[in-house]
Amino acid sequence: MTLIKILPDWFLPENHATPESVFLNRRRFLKGLGLGAIGTGISTTVLGCNSTNQEAVKENLKSANLQALNFTKNPNFVLDRPLTDEAVAATYNNFYEFSSGKDVWRYVGNFEAHPWTVEINGLVNKPQTLAIEDLITKMPMEERLYRHRCVETWAMAVPWVGFSLKSLIQRVEPKSTAKFVKFTTFFRPKQVSRQDLQNYPYPYTEGLTMAEAMNDLAFLAVGIYGHELPKQHGAPIRLVVPWKYGFKSIKSIDKIEFIDRQPATFWNTLVANEYDFEANVNPHQPHPRWSQATERMLGTGERRKTTIYNGYANYVGGLYKA
Ligand code: MTE
Repeated sequence: MTLIKILPDWFLPENHATPESVFLNRRRFLKGLGLGAIGTGISTTVLGCNSTNQEAVKENLKSANLQALNFTKNPNFVLDRPLTDEAVAATYNNFYEFSSGKDVWRYVGNFEAHPWTVEINGLVNKPQTLAIEDLITKMPMEERLYRHRCVETWAMAVPWVGFSLKSLIQRVEPKSTAKFVKFTTFFRPKQVSRQDLQNYPYPYTEGLTMAEAMNDLAFLAVGIYGHELPKQHGAPIRLVVPWKYGFKSIKSIDKIEFIDRQPATFWNTLVANEYDFEANVNPHQPHPRWSQATERMLGTGERRKTTIYNGYANYVGGLYKA
C-alpha cells in the first residue's frame, strides 16, 4: 500500500487543487483504468463556495424536508465571527465515504439515515442501544454556536443542535477502567460503494480520552441551523469537538464504546505522522503539508490567525501539558 494510493486528493493544499476540466478528464481516465474513485481529484473554488452549487444545495435542503428541532439556545458559546451561510456549509463537506471531493451533497441521496440506532457499550455499567428518536426526546437539547476548523485550513462557524457528550456518558455509567471512548461510523459497503474500496480502514473510527469526552465542549450534534442534520453533515448524529481538527468530529455514528486503551482511528491508521490522535488545533505546529498559522473562512474567504485550541483554551487548556 503506497502513500500516493491511499492519500485522498482532498487532502491536497487547496492552491494545488485540480482545475475542474483537468479533474474531469482525469476521472474519466482513472475510470477507464478501472481505478474507480481512488485518487480522483476535487473541484474546489477559492472561497469554498460556488453560487450555482449553492442554488442546487438550497433546493436539495428544501426537498430533504429536514425536521425542525426543539432546543434551548446555550448563551455560553459566543462567536468572534459571523455564522457561515447554511448553503455554503452544506456545499463544502468532507465525508470520504461518499466523495473524495467537497461535493458530498451530490452523493448522499440513497443513504438511509432512518431508522437509526446508536449502540453504547464496553466498560460501562449500563450498556444500551438507543434509537435516534429516543436520544432527541430524552437528552437535554441545546443549540451551540461553534467554530469549526479543518486541518486543510478552511474554517466555518455554525449553530449545532444536540446535547453534551457528557450527558450521554453519565447515563451509561462508565467503569473506572474506561480510559478512552471510541466512535464508529456506519459500515454499509453495499449501500455506500466507497466503503467497499480497498486500502481504507472502514468503518471510519475516532476516539477521545475520557477526560476529553467529559469536557463541557464535547458535543453530539443531531441538528444544525435549527433542524435535523442534512446527510452531508453526518446525519443523524455526529461528534463535534471544536478544539480539534475537523477529522476528529466523526459523522453518522452508530457505535460508542468505552475501552481501556487508545483506539485505532481512521486517518491515524492511514498516515500516522500527518494525523495524530490528539489533533488539537495549534498554529505553531504545522502539518507536513500546510502551515496552520492562518485559516480561511468558507463563504467569505476571510483569512484569520489560527488560535490555540481554536480559541477554546479556557475550556480545554487544562487537559494538556503546556
Ligand atoms: N466522518 C466520517 N465518517 N467520514 C469523513 O470523511 N470527515 C471529517 C469529519 N468527519 C469525515 C468525518 C473531516 S476531515 C471534517 S473537516 C469534518 O467531518 C467536516 O464536517 P462538515 O462536512 O460537516 O463540515
